[in-house]
Amino acid sequence: MSELQTEIQKRRTFAIISHPDAGKTTLTEKLLLYGGAIHLAGSIKSRKTQRHAVSDWMEIEKQRGISVTSSVLQFDYAGCRVNILDTPGHQDFSEDTYRTLMAVDSAVMIIDVAKGVEAQTKKLFKVCKQRHIPIFTFVNKLDRYGKAPLELMEEIEDVLGIRSYPMNWPIGTDGHYKGIYHRETGKVELFSEDTSHGQEERESIIYDLNDPKAKETIGEDIYQALLDDIDLLDVAGEEWSMEKVNKGELTPMFFGSAMTNFGVRGFLEEYLRLAPPPQPRMSSDGLIQPDDEKFSGFVFKIQANMNPAHHDRLSFIRICSGKFERGMSVYHMQGGKSVKLAQPQQFLAQDRQIIDTAYPGDIVGLFDPGIFGIGDTLCMPSHKFKFADFPVFPPERFARVSAKDTMKRKQFVKGIMQLTQEGAVQLFQQAGAGMESYIVGTVGQLQFDVLEYRLKSEYNTEIVMNMQPFEVARWLRFKDNRPVTPEALRGADRGMFVYDMKERPVLLVSNEWALGWIQDNNPDLELFHVPPEK
Ligand code: G4P
Repeated sequence: MSELQTEIQKRRTFAIISHPDAGKTTLTEKLLLYGGAIHLAGSIKSRKTQRHAVSDWMEIEKQRGISVTSSVLQFDYAGCRVNILDTPGHQDFSEDTYRTLMAVDSAVMIIDVAKGVEAQTKKLFKVCKQRHIPIFTFVNKLDRYGKAPLELMEEIEDVLGIRSYPMNWPIGTDGHYKGIYHRETGKVELFSEDTSHGQEERESIIYDLNDPKAKETIGEDIYQALLDDIDLLDVAGEEWSMEKVNKGELTPMFFGSAMTNFGVRGFLEEYLRLAPPPQPRMSSDGLIQPDDEKFSGFVFKIQANMNPAHHDRLSFIRICSGKFERGMSVYHMQGGKSVKLAQPQQFLAQDRQIIDTAYPGDIVGLFDPGIFGIGDTLCMPSHKFKFADFPVFPPERFARVSAKDTMKRKQFVKGIMQLTQEGAVQLFQQAGAGMESYIVGTVGQLQFDVLEYRLKSEYNTEIVMNMQPFEVARWLRFKDNRPVTPEALRGADRGMFVYDMKERPVLLVSNEWALGWIQDNNPDLELFHVPPEK
């Protein structure tokens, strides 16, 4: 195996998805603890609680705080190099999360044992499923009362449409659990006293299932219930199939408790054993294999003003093939230019480090003077191609936004352009309107709050924002390709005719009914949820 292939085989790049409060922060922290990246669990957590919910603004800051300083966590464990990509938890930030999911090879889905499958988990799961990436389930908070495991399996199948294969099984009845049974080894692992309040790894007591001490410690009734469950799983449960796991059709399911360090190490080890190394990516030139010697990668996230005092901007690149070396020149497809990758940054918990080399599956942060956009491809000049496009989410809320103080217009434009490039909002210009205001489109209300807050705190600009009565945006094209203008479109005045930042025509209307009217009256008009291909 070449050096490149060896490095690729070592890598595991994934994201943890969950509904807020299911335990993502806690589990991430524990994985870092085992990886030796932090010595005492608690640093991420304390940051989070410090910043907790003083106000909605603090909530936003908290989100940024977490996703900024720990965007990518890297550590070594059992011969693997692990890259965990953090995803913001708040539902209004889901677009950002979706993009992060474009950069991983697998995902860990956390489910709260008492709450089961929740709304946000469902949304994020859908994206993973569309990408056909392997999904591993960690059922958390087993130290507490929760739903019966069979009920959870059924819920996962009914709500998410995926079958699960329990790798271990909780020991206990009526939602009170004492530990877990490992199906492959036939061992039972029981909770021991937690003496460090989750700060340190916990010892557990392990017995063979047949060991009389196991039965004695667990208790007759619960022991018998466990035997019945094991029988049931073996007879009626899903068969193990790595092929199905790899296609995202079967999810290996683990039970544990992140807070009390129970079942976490076993989970990490099994996960690293089973999860796929960096996978090939689709491009305009077919599949790009990670062991292709020519470097390639794509931008999946842009974060400006990580340090508000410096107005810096970092673009996060997922490496897809070849070896990355500091200072190398690569070709930026969308910009049509060569760029030198001068100051690559990597992240470990809260410290930034300059890195010299990186391999497929790794994420590097590049200081970016404003040339990169989300989804852009970097490749070698001798092999030019573009990676498949990122999904775009149609905006559903719109506001007219302008600078309160006209003297601050320049700052305002700079800020709003920056936030648009970052993918925080979508920007439109009303046909025939002056340059004083923009129409901003978002998926949720919080994005407007973030826009207002960040323009003020990072660009010192206050804005005036007027909500517009539209809920639907459609990109427009005539079948014969003649230009779509407000004059050429019948009923354009029933909504608002705007252009996106690439000057493509878009109509904003209040509802599907209005859209139907437009379609009926312009039979050769094509309407698109997202910008159409040329
Ligand atoms: P999130 O990132 O997914 O939003 O969840 P987070 O890890 O912050 O966990 C949410 C809450 O659930 C926290 O409690 C956390 O301590 C608790 N938790 C996480 N894992 C477990 C577990 O295995 N068992 C139990 N019983 N609780 C768990 P909190 O009260 O919000 O915060 P804190 O007071 O613990 O700081």
